[in-house]
Amino acid sequence: MLEGKRIVLGITGGIAAYKVATLIRILKKNGAEVKCILTPASSDFISPLTVSTLSDNPAYQIFWNKEDGVWTNHVDLGAWGDLMVIAPLTANTLAKMATGLCDNLLLATYLSAKCPVMVAPAMDLDMYAHDTTDKNLSTLSDQGVKIIPAESGFLASGLEGKGRMAEPETIADHITEFFEKSQSLKGERIFITAGPTYEGIDPVRFIGNHSSGKMGFSIAENTLNRGAEVILVTGPTNCKLEHKDLKRIDVRSAEEMLAAMKEHFSSCTGGIFSAAVSDYRPAKQADQKIKKSDDKMIIELIKNPDILFEAGKSKREDQWLVGFALETQNALDNAKGKLERKNLDLIVVNTLEDEGAGFGYDTNKITLLDKNNNSINFELTSKDKAASNILNYITEHIK
Ligand code: CTP
Repeated sequence: MLEGKRIVLGITGGIAAYKVATLIRILKKNGAEVKCILTPASSDFISPLTVSTLSDNPAYQIFWNKEDGVWTNHVDLGAWGDLMVIAPLTANTLAKMATGLCDNLLLATYLSAKCPVMVAPAMDLDMYAHDTTDKNLSTLSDQGVKIIPAESGFLASGLEGKGRMAEPETIADHITEFFEKSQSLKGERIFITAGPTYEGIDPVRFIGNHSSGKMGFSIAENTLNRGAEVILVTGPTNCKLEHKDLKRIDVRSAEEMLAAMKEHFSSCTGGIFSAAVSDYRPAKQADQKIKKSDDKMIIELIKNPDILFEAGKSKREDQWLVGFALETQNALDNAKGKLERKNLDLIVVNTLEDEGAGFGYDTNKITLLDKNNNSINFELTSKDKAASNILNYITEHIK
């Protein structure tokens, strides 16, 4: 199941480190390649010799080995892995990760890792329950790090409660599930729209909106991480995304976005339309900058094409289509109307009534409503997590 998968395993200084020997064995038995990085404190709990023997690789501990003069390149280690797992994760390393401290090889590798990261916290009852720990875990989670929750049971301190590192078998299950998921959209090509549109008034002015593009870019990233090719058509945004399977098309206006849809949607297996397209545009765009004159100025607006509606009209049996609805009242009823009118399989409903949701925020609160009238509500969460919830639903129920 893990054949050929490359796993960077970070080990920090907690008593649960002794269980990592079993984890390495399971991963190796399932065909993974494993490279382990130990923090200085971890070798008090598990010997580097054990780690290197089981992983069949050096036990990476320091940047610079004075004896043989060899420099360990944390960037190479970070780039090598398909997945980085830190188990056990102590409160100390957690706090450093959450704040960007970088005083050992493991932390430098974490900061430069290009691959997804998973952590299995392990600490004593009160440390795990501490508000700071909770806050630090939320920070990592919001940045897309997957947390394997600690389990309840006897702790090394003699206390009993939550704080034990998940068992090696459980961690291995999470790793296997991650790689299964990473293939869940393999072979699909997904068309995604993101960001606002800018509708020109004259060469220097436009009608636009506050969409940052974050939601659409998180969706694109999550889709790529599941093995799909992505065609991302985006309005003006500061968001960045790089991936070998990404084709990014930058547009400004709704008409340009429509042209990109007409050119590319038919070659795709599915579409997710998250762009905040301007419903209207100026009837005429002035060639020169408009000079101020009268006290009042009237700009005539005409309707823009509804890109999602056009995609819905052209949708084939073998394609699926997901739209967004931003509502301020009667959210579910309005969204249902849009789902039907635009021939969608699923609609993602946002309401601006929710604190922290919508334009400009890093968080979002969504409800999913599908064409069979099934709906599911999610709590306020990071846009990355919201994207993951949307993609989970698509892979399980839509595609
Ligand atoms: N959309 C689109 N092209 C447009 C307008 C909207 O592709 N010209 C897409 C959006 O990307 C989103 C969905 O349609 O996925 C819903 O957009 P929204 O503005 O909420 O709905 P409208 O159909 O424009 O309805 P209204 O403005 O009346 O709420």
